[in-house]
Amino acid sequence: MADAIAASLHYLSIFVLFALLTCEHVLFKAELDVATARKLLRIDMIYGASAGLVLLTGLARVIWFGKGLDYYLHNWVFHAKVSLFILVGLLSILPTLTFFNWRNDLLAGKAPTITPAQAKRTIMVIRLELLILVCLPFLASLMARGVGFFS
Ligand code: HEM
Repeated sequence: MADAIAASLHYLSIFVLFALLTCEHVLFKAELDVATARKLLRIDMIYGASAGLVLLTGLARVIWFGKGLDYYLHNWVFHAKVSLFILVGLLSILPTLTFFNWRNDLLAGKAPTITPAQAKRTIMVIRLELLILVCLPFLASLMARGVGFFS
């Protein structure tokens, strides 16, 4: 039962993570009004929290509910999956910093100023994150079936 709950929480947090990043992709524009910019800032904070939840539920499965720590540590597909997840986390720093820099403008009730280069970079990073995330369920399915095992 605990195993099923841990697995469900892993999936749910992944759904939330993906949904929030998709919202960021849809909402982010080179020209934003104050309300949308505030929304993006809030969404990005919850996105960070959901990534933390994905990590915690993943670790719980590795340590307590999966096939045992040894199994995963000896599986290169697992390492690839976790490395890509970390890469997504590192990439997400860039949009987060961009949104965070709007705080003073937003506190003053002003719409943020976004340069075309900033807008292009932010949207490309969000797309790259989405692309990497789309590959992860396949890696996860391979790893769960023993592909990538080394001794
Ligand atoms: C967005 C990131 C992630 C996605 C999309 C993802 C996706 C998945 C999916 C689809 C499964 C089910 C595989 C199956 O049973 O066929 C799974 C299982 C699992 N995931 Fe994740 N995962 C993510 C992040 C993580 C992280 C960061 C960790 C570890 C730190 C982790 C550890 C695990 C473990 C241990 C299992 C159980 C595999 C088994 O049944 O042997 N996951 N994941």
